[in-house]
Amino acid sequence: MAKISDIKALKILNSRDDWTIEVELILEDGSCVKASVPEGKSDGSYEAVPVDVDKAILNIHEEILPALRGLESSDQLALDNKMRELDGTENKSRLGANAILAVSIALVRASALSSGRPLWKYIREMSRLESFGATRIYANLINGGKHAGNNLDIQEYLIIPKTESAKESADIISHIYHNLGTICVEKYGESATLVGDEGGYAPSLDNNLTPLKLIKEASNEFEVDVGIDAAASGIKMSNEKLVEMYREMVGVYNLFYLEDPFSEDDFHAFKGALLEFGEGVKVTGDDLTVTNTDRMRTAKAQESINGVIIKPNQIGTVSETIEAVRQARKYGWQVVASHRSGETNDSFIADFAVGVGADGIKIGAPARGERIAKYNRLLEIEREDV
Ligand code: PGA
Ligand code: ZN
Repeated sequence: MAKISDIKALKILNSRDDWTIEVELILEDGSCVKASVPEGKSDGSYEAVPVDVDKAILNIHEEILPALRGLESSDQLALDNKMRELDGTENKSRLGANAILAVSIALVRASALSSGRPLWKYIREMSRLESFGATRIYANLINGGKHAGNNLDIQEYLIIPKTESAKESADIISHIYHNLGTICVEKYGESATLVGDEGGYAPSLDNNLTPLKLIKEASNEFEVDVGIDAAASGIKMSNEKLVEMYREMVGVYNLFYLEDPFSEDDFHAFKGALLEFGEGVKVTGDDLTVTNTDRMRTAKAQESINGVIIKPNQIGTVSETIEAVRQARKYGWQVVASHRSGETNDSFIADFAVGVGADGIKIGAPARGERIAKYNRLLEIEREDV
């Protein structure tokens, strides 16, 4: 138990060479931590709103710090609520979701450090959420859409190893990623292994199903599920054409995971996919639900999805992110916590996913330092969890 002593905010670069915020937070017992926030590119219209980084820094120094200094750091809900009240908007657009989240994450991290617990364990105790098995890794091995300069409409082609162990999972992903690289070079030449924003290969291919064919070839000897994130708000294709494509993916490649198959307001079309493909396919909301409990309630009322993506920076505080997981559990949905395409080396999302007992975590391919930071943190957590 310790009180907040100081918060310093500064600018750092993210993986897309854009500026983002890092905060250093110090408690009266000397605990000192850093936290930084990611940024999406194919972000949903209903996400909490970040402000310009210089403005966010000013807001932290001039408004958030004076409001929080001297308060008990472990009172996460009260502190997050205080920042929300101070902001005064529905979408955190005054102080900035980036400013608020950076402080919110730093508070959890500082309190965990002060209590002597690993971050994931502290989050587990704080959230009191039940885990229904290990957190499986969702690895994005082929990038398209807004995350790559190729011709693929689909944003992410994912593999999900069927194992409870992070180490085994990372090992399988790494083997398949290497195999896939070799196959891509053989078929399409050296430039086919240039990577996109999340570290997956980004070749131009003859159609949107070919990546699944390549992934199948590369993963032959391993036990994995496959999935996609269409991020369909950014795709110019009719719903009929999209459904036809997903039907083939499910029929031929046994697709297990289908994220944002339609645009962000089309709750009805999501429902259609869920009805057609059944419980065996995880029809998942991301831009549809934006980690927002109101949007999630609508999706539940309309029976649109059976899985949800959880991203702290879509809503802007750790407490609200935990609440979104709690609500998803109540609805019986699969929960997948996720990084963003513009990342820093902060590995908070790994601790968060394990702490809240998420079924999965999306962290890109095992390439690029900012993705590797999450893989390596998951491995570390597995070693700590004895
Ligand atoms: P984003 O993409 O971080 O660019 O929004 C990730 C996703 O859509 O899941
Ligand atoms: Zn998505």
